[in-house]
Amino acid sequence: MSRTLSARIRERIALAGGWVRFDRYMEFVLNEPGLGYYSAGSAKFGAEGDFVTAPELGSFLARAIATQFSGMLGSFANPAIVEVGAGNGTLAAQLLDALAELGSEAVRYLILEPSAELRDRQRAELRRFGSRVRWLDRLPEQPIEGLILANEVVDALPVVRFVKRGGATVPLGVRCRAGRFEWAEGREDADLSEAVTSLESMLGERLPDGYRSEVRLVLRGWINGLAAALARGAVLLVDYGGVRREYYHRERRDGTLICHYRHRAHDDPFFLPGLQDLSAWVDFSACADAARDAGLAVAGFTTQGLYLVESAADATEPVSLDPRTASAFRTLVLPGEMGERFKLLLLTKAIVPPRLPGRDLRSRL
Ligand SMILES: C[S@@+](CC[C@H](N)C(=O)[O-])C[C@H]1O[C@@H](n2cnc3c(N)ncnc32)[C@H](O)[C@@H]1O
Repeated sequence: MSRTLSARIRERIALAGGWVRFDRYMEFVLNEPGLGYYSAGSAKFGAEGDFVTAPELGSFLARAIATQFSGMLGSFANPAIVEVGAGNGTLAAQLLDALAELGSEAVRYLILEPSAELRDRQRAELRRFGSRVRWLDRLPEQPIEGLILANEVVDALPVVRFVKRGGATVPLGVRCRAGRFEWAEGREDADLSEAVTSLESMLGERLPDGYRSEVRLVLRGWINGLAAALARGAVLLVDYGGVRREYYHRERRDGTLICHYRHRAHDDPFFLPGLQDLSAWVDFSACADAARDAGLAVAGFTTQGLYLVESAADATEPVSLDPRTASAFRTLVLPGEMGERFKLLLLTKAIVPPRLPGRDLRSRL
């Protein structure tokens, strides 16, 4: 599988004149139909896979989201949840169960999942919910009233790697030498240089020579798409990352790109193409700016730890946890685990926003 994908990428690189920018390579290795990491059949999530996402650790996130948004959903005539990038369908099943417990059974659940293989897994996982769950090929053309949700999707959107050289921004990309992929610098390109110049002006300083990092040029278009698909309601992005001045801190001289293979994290994106995950931090300041420009209000920003702890404290039913569940909860909320790295960004349109539990950290964006 990895060999077939590697051969295809080599052909694409040759067709492009011997070099492709890193975002194209990332798109190939994650999403190439039938062969990319998300499109092929490996386990991916959970203990059997390469990394763990919050829904694999229990229904805490789903319950908190259901509690926070059931009132808002109940106020719409024909409410819908659109989940973008639903993985195994675990969060969807947990959310639908949690909403049912809260009496919100009328909500349609629409899934936008580019991977045919994951769509099949989701269909199997969500069969018991019948026709309430539907799959979309693109975001709804008729804007919905409801909630658009994306857990750990933005981190998988391709990033453009760059290095600063003599004040210029040089794109980093991929070439092939003796059958192996390797990093290679390309020629300056206008989109990237403009994005990094604007980033530097927001940071109030030039990034130092030799500094490597990445920007997600597709982010604006992606958020514009979500904003256009929402008539009234909220967008909730849950992901790992930070605000701009943490992401582009002078000391973080090699960016945040990370690879996961069987629960080991490393920094070689050319290892087993298609069999390992690649992701990079989410710049939540960039998400908030793009959202405001797309007509959304930035209604909340907090860490996953603070969000889940406050949501659990607010639960009307006291929760008693067996040791395994308690350990999963600790993984989700402790600062040294997923509690601080993961954040929630709440964006709203034409509603009085439901409060996002957890300390309000919007002033840091
Ligand atoms: C890291 S997984 C997260 C899965 C799931 N949300 C969870 O929390 O377990 C990333 C998901 O996003 C999907 N994805 C990747 N790129 C996407 C894109 N451009 N639009 C929508 N979904 C995308 C993948 O196929 C996969 O389902």
